[in-house]
Amino acid sequence: MVVYLDHAATTPMLPAAIAAYAEAMGVVGNPASVHSQGQNAKRMLEESREIVAASLGCDPIEVVFTGSGTEAINLGIKGLYWARAPRRRILVPGGEHHATLDTVEWLAEHDGAVIEWIPLDDQGRVDLAALKAAIARDPFDIALVSVIMANNEVGTIEPVAEVAALAAVHGIPVHVDAVAAYGYIPVDFRTLAAAGVSALSVSAHKVGGPVGIGALVLGRATTVEPLIHGGGQQRKVRSGTQDVAAAVSFAVAASALSAELSAAAGGETARLAALRDRVIAGVARVAPDAVLNGDPIIRLPGNAHFSFAGCEGDSLLFLLDAAGVSVSTGSACQAGVPEPSHVLRAMGRNEIESRGALRITLGHTSTDADVDALLAALPAAHAQALRAGMADRVPGR
Ligand SMILES: Cc1ncc(COP(=O)(O)O)c(C=O)c1O
Repeated sequence: MVVYLDHAATTPMLPAAIAAYAEAMGVVGNPASVHSQGQNAKRMLEESREIVAASLGCDPIEVVFTGSGTEAINLGIKGLYWARAPRRRILVPGGEHHATLDTVEWLAEHDGAVIEWIPLDDQGRVDLAALKAAIARDPFDIALVSVIMANNEVGTIEPVAEVAALAAVHGIPVHVDAVAAYGYIPVDFRTLAAAGVSALSVSAHKVGGPVGIGALVLGRATTVEPLIHGGGQQRKVRSGTQDVAAAVSFAVAASALSAELSAAAGGETARLAALRDRVIAGVARVAPDAVLNGDPIIRLPGNAHFSFAGCEGDSLLFLLDAAGVSVSTGSACQAGVPEPSHVLRAMGRNEIESRGALRITLGHTSTDADVDALLAALPAAHAQALRAGMADRVPGR
């Protein structure tokens, strides 16, 4: 039996989303065409947009489909930056996903942006006092603030509304990366927009839809400079013939998650949190000195992220994989070479604690049997990883 506990990387597509995808791929018609087949494709697309919008608490016109969460984040950040020229400052917490980090760093390198990293506390939460002080320094030169809604590595849920409220005092737009949050905690754009959020990114493959489609929710009054030019589709913000089949499949996944998240207590959130708490208790029995990273309470229901003492997260990952359990260290890999986690470093953890990181993430297919299998495989994997110890690596490499 293979046990998949890496739902934060991607979660299995829902069977209904696969079926809808396959069926919709057989439908011909460009939604921009005037003839009846084009209009049929357009109807399928716009009905899907309505369902995705309902799952995000926004109006359908505010949903701009993109090719990924990464593209949505690029459009949100670069689009706002360019639309707000000549303002130069971008305020961003240090523990963001690479889609954000690399985008703002690109803008700094190629387009004059001045990045100001906002510190995190030791649980991964953005320091609101530091953000407030950074805003106060020169609010009129700030192009935007970008903040993650829930950290994809350590699972901490961020005070996004408070961030937006601080920026809103000076009319500064806020982009929210909700890719890791979507599907696990409610994401309601209307409420966030009332607090001052202008744009928000999500991705279908994190919620049981297909890889290859994401969305930027863009408030009606928000202007962004497009990244892609062409036929003027989607408010002229993201040109290109729209992927009807992917949108249909995304909508099936979005409506399933809306139903799950709106269910009263005892719904999917509580089910995942109970499984996660079994993981946390089980890890504490096997490795009492392992530290749970992130906020112990205000965290994603499916996320358990640890720093193990005296062994490499990579060793644990490979040993668990050999035992049929798929987990992650949580941090990015560059060409197969694991990088120390910038999130843990931003939380003040040292190199050793970063290297002992292991992320276990649960999702819609996860069961008690999966947790049993993890906890059965962990003692031997942990013992062996401890014997291997810490590889003699040059710090920082
Ligand atoms: C928080 C966060 N932002 C952005 C992304 C990128 O999304 P995509 O894989 O759709 O490009 C991910 C994916 O891991 C993520 O977890």
